[in-house]
Amino acid sequence: CHVVSLVKLLTLNYFPSRTLCTLPSQGLEKFSLSGSQSPVVGFLGQDVLLPCQLSPPAQLPNMDVQWRKIGQEFILVHEYADRGTQELPGAGYQNRTELFPSDFSSGNISLKLKMLQITDNGKYQCFVRDAEWSHEAITELRVAAVAPVFIDVLGSRGQGIGLACRSAGWFPKPELQWVGKNWQNLAMDIVTDVTEDRENLYSVVSHVTVTEREGSGDISCIVRNRMVDTEQQSAIHLSSEF
Ligand SMILES: *[C@@H]1O[C@H](CO)[C@@H](O)[C@H](O)[C@H]1NC(C)=O
Repeated sequence: CHVVSLVKLLTLNYFPSRTLCTLPSQGLEKFSLSGSQSPVVGFLGQDVLLPCQLSPPAQLPNMDVQWRKIGQEFILVHEYADRGTQELPGAGYQNRTELFPSDFSSGNISLKLKMLQITDNGKYQCFVRDAEWSHEAITELRVAAVAPVFIDVLGSRGQGIGLACRSAGWFPKPELQWVGKNWQNLAMDIVTDVTEDRENLYSVVSHVTVTEREGSGDISCIVRNRMVDTEQQSAIHLSSEF
């Protein structure tokens, strides 16, 4: 049986596994499965590839693949079984998943997840099984959302002029910062509110009153998503006559 198992390792695509003999489990431990070491980042509404690689590259005979989301229990995301005669997305993932069976022979069992939602955040398990062997690899997905930033001029406020900066549709909670060239002691006058909507997206609004003393020039509002190190900004120019 040991000899046969070596033959099988070398010619996996040609021998149906069960007709030879049952391999000792260590017979296939030459194989390993890996996901992504670092989290995969995707953006709301876009597509992302969750990697899963069998090494050394091979297509196991009668291989079953399950992609699952790890929660309190496993949620089936996509299943490929019985040489593809049953290839099914999990409930809630219709039209959002794609495996690439033509790449299986290079050990590539990556899953494309489409039209990302905030609730897709989390850990995913690539689970592969054949008659003698099963293995799993975990990859974390982080879904981020960024949105355009607007500055509104609200008019005169006492000695100065009121400005508002607003942006809606961020995930996770963003940071907001006002930046002006001649501008000091800004922090004292700023009021910033962050709210979360029903789709778990964050909106941010910040009010500031700029006084003449603080000078004219360009004033920017910068909103930043630290998770993906991405920022959006808007700027206005205040003339010295205001
Ligand atoms: C795996 O296959 C997908 C789909 O063809 C491809 O986009 C991806 O680059 C492949 N990954 C590797 C490591 O080859």
